[in-house]
Amino acid sequence: MQLTAVRGMNDILPEETARWQHLEDAFRRAAELHGFEEVRTPLIEQTALFAREIGETTDVVEKEMYSFERHGDRLTVRPEGTASAARAYVEHTVHAKQPVSRWYYLGPMFRGERPAKGRYRQFHQAGCEHYGDAGPLCDAEMVSFLLGFLRSLGIDGLSVHVSSLGSGDTRVRFREALRAYFEPLRATLSEDSQRRLEKNPLRILDSKDPKDRQAAVGAPSILDFLEGEDLAHWQGLLGHLAALGITPVIDASLVRGLDYYTRTLFEIRTSSGDLGAQNTLVGGGRYDEMIGNLGGPKVPAIGFALGLERLLVAMPAARKARPPTCYVAAMVPEAEGAALVLGRELRARGVRTVLDGRRARFKTIQQRAETAGARLLAFIDAEQLGRAAVAVKDLASRTQDELSLADAPATLAERLLGTSNADPSAAGAR
Ligand code: HAM
Repeated sequence: MQLTAVRGMNDILPEETARWQHLEDAFRRAAELHGFEEVRTPLIEQTALFAREIGETTDVVEKEMYSFERHGDRLTVRPEGTASAARAYVEHTVHAKQPVSRWYYLGPMFRGERPAKGRYRQFHQAGCEHYGDAGPLCDAEMVSFLLGFLRSLGIDGLSVHVSSLGSGDTRVRFREALRAYFEPLRATLSEDSQRRLEKNPLRILDSKDPKDRQAAVGAPSILDFLEGEDLAHWQGLLGHLAALGITPVIDASLVRGLDYYTRTLFEIRTSSGDLGAQNTLVGGGRYDEMIGNLGGPKVPAIGFALGLERLLVAMPAARKARPPTCYVAAMVPEAEGAALVLGRELRARGVRTVLDGRRARFKTIQQRAETAGARLLAFIDAEQLGRAAVAVKDLASRTQDELSLADAPATLAERLLGTSNADPSAAGAR
């Protein structure tokens, strides 16, 4: 039997990694520009962390986690990054060192969902978490950061969906109202939702089952329940978005699939690319209670995560240009030593160099150089070797000349990079 990758988990081959690197670099630059610093947490955490913080009755925890036991511990491969980052924040008493922290992360996440275009079992997120500021300014700033970033990638057709879940008492009253609304409809609900009616009726609003969707059509709106500071926060957010010229879709049906949210919830969707139902590029919101729940002080927090696979589908297909490349070929066995040395000296000057020791006719070598994206082809045959020289063909202008092996590294670097200086970062390779 042929071994293949696990269903829903994809290889990313070198021909695709240029786009990934471009996206990851752009995200890092944008996050750093907004004052965020990178955090790296383990891929595996105690199962209890996700069960408690994401919520026992969520689909993620009930059905999708990759969990196992090892050395007596119940462990889970992370389905998302927020709970892990919060755990690290509390564990390292970060709040005691600075009142406000801005963290970002990039990496694979694992959820056993049904695979579809834009929905995988191993997928990649880029996320930000902002700790220590409860004001709606942070919420609006985050939405503005995201819109700017997504537009800079050439993604359009963007819509921002926002809602607020309130906090504390507001949520208790809303939960009761939902229970009262759904109770007479109990028999029409899916099995999952009937079970969730007692424990967590909010989850019924998030159900994908058509029966539940039908039942939820006339459900009460959380936005009607906001009052006091919850209402002030919500109105503050809308005011700040207006100041930024952002018109959100106010969407009381937004609940999101994770239990930790308080107050602001948001998603950014796109109509570009053919993502179908998987067109939510970003999900995020406030979770002012998580740090306290994890044993830390009362530190408010807000964050988001972008799905990188979805971004790549929505982004126009611009490819990262290859850096200027020199192709070096030994045409005869005796020239291999000289080719190796030339390759080493070119790389020490920062020139991307592809070495070819598989001898062939000149025409074939030239084709290989073109396929490798090279601008210059440097080749050494027996005759040149006798003169301690190398022939150089410019594949763009089709001109050819000869250089001494001693001068070639500096001259070729000058032709390709406009400078012949040795590259200090490559010097260690010598
Ligand atoms: P989430 O909505 O579960 O939120 O995921 C965020 C984004 O990750 C989604 O909008 C989507 O683009 C991508 N995504 C999720 N699941 C998959 C999948 N199976 N395949 C491909 N892409 C997927 C969170 O994870 C929260 N931690 C966000 C957050 C950060 N909230 C506060 N801070």
